[in-house]
Amino acid sequence: MPTGTNPAISVTGLRKSYGSHRVLDGIDLTIPQGTVFSLLGPNGAGKTTTVQILSTLVKADAGEIRVAGHDLAEEPDKVRAAIGVTGQFSAVDSLLTGEENLRLMADLLHLGRTAGRARIRELLERFDLTDAARKPAAAYSGGMRRRLDLAMTMVGTPRLIFLDEPTTGLDPRSRRTMWQIVRDLVEQDGVTIFLTTQYLEEADELADRIALLSQGELVAEGTPQELKRLVPGGHISVRFADADGYRRAAPHVGATSRNDATLTVQIPGTGGVRTLKNLLERLDSQAVEVAELTVHGPDLDDVFLTLTKEPSR
Ligand SMILES: Nc1ncnc2c1ncn2[C@@H]1O[C@H](COP(=O)(O)OP(=O)(O)OP(=O)(O)O)[C@@H](O)[C@H]1O
Ligand SMILES: [Mg+2]
Repeated sequence: MPTGTNPAISVTGLRKSYGSHRVLDGIDLTIPQGTVFSLLGPNGAGKTTTVQILSTLVKADAGEIRVAGHDLAEEPDKVRAAIGVTGQFSAVDSLLTGEENLRLMADLLHLGRTAGRARIRELLERFDLTDAARKPAAAYSGGMRRRLDLAMTMVGTPRLIFLDEPTTGLDPRSRRTMWQIVRDLVEQDGVTIFLTTQYLEEADELADRIALLSQGELVAEGTPQELKRLVPGGHISVRFADADGYRRAAPHVGATSRNDATLTVQIPGTGGVRTLKNLLERLDSQAVEVAELTVHGPDLDDVFLTLTKEPSR
C-alpha cells in the first residue's frame, strides 16, 4: 500500500527506443505525493512517450519504475486503478454530450447508477459545465473541452494525474482557469500532478519541481528558482537620481543598454552580492546618487533555450 512518505513516482534508468531512434536514454525521477511535477522539453523530446510509459500505455525497454506505490512491470493493473491520464489529444467524444461522455467513463469504471450519477453531477458543477451538460461536446469551446477532458479523468478519483499539454491552444483566460483547477486538485484533493507543457510560464506557475528533457536525457532538474539560477541572462537595472550623475557614471558601468530619458542603464549579470557591492561603492566614491536599483533574474525561457537542443532526427 502507498503511504504518505512513498513517492508518487520513482524511476531509475528508464530507456525507450523506437527502432534505432533512442527516445529516452536513462531517465531518473522521484516525485513526492501531493506535488506538481512538470516535464519540459522541445517538440519530439519524449514527453508524451514518458507519460505513456508511466501510465502503462507503452512498455519501457529498461528501467525500474514504481507508480502510486506499485511496480509498473509487475502490477500494471494496480497502477492503472490509481491514476488518471488526460492525453495530449482529447479523449472527448464530440458526438456525445458532456454528461454522456462522463457517464461513459462512470460505466467503464463500474461506478454503479446512483454513485455514478452523483459523481457526474459533482464534476459538472466543479468544472463549470452544468449549463452545457446536455449539449454535444462538438459545440464546446476549446476551454470547455479541456475541462470536460479533465472531468472525465477525475471520474475515478485518481490519486495521480498525468496531464499532457493541458492548456495548448487555450486563450489566456481559459489557461488561467485550468491552472486554478490544477492548484485546487493538489491543495484540496492532495492529488499528485505530472504535467508536460510547452509553456514555461505554466511550469513556473504550477510546478514544485521541473525537469528539462533534451535528446533523451534530463539535462536539468529542480525548483523553478533553482533552474533560473543555472543560466546567466539576468540583469541589474540602475536608475540615476540626476542627469549629472547619469552623464558621468553611465558610460563606465558596463551597461549593455542606456535610456537617456529615464536616466536608466541595464547591466548584464545575475546580481551577485559582490557585483552589487562593487557597483554601489564605485558610484558612491564618484558621488553619484542612485534613485533605484533592481535585480532581474533570468526567466525559464533563458533556461530552456540554453539547456535544450533541437532533437536529433
Ligand atoms: N509509436 C512511435 N513509433 C515511432 N516513433 C515514435 C512513436 N512515438 C513517438 N515516437 C518518436 O519519439 C520521439 C518522441 O516523441 P514524443 O511524442 O514523446 O515527444 P514529445 O516530447 O511529446 O513532443 P511534442 O512536444 O511534440 O508533443 C519523436 O521523435 C517521435 O517521432
Ligand atoms: Mg507530446
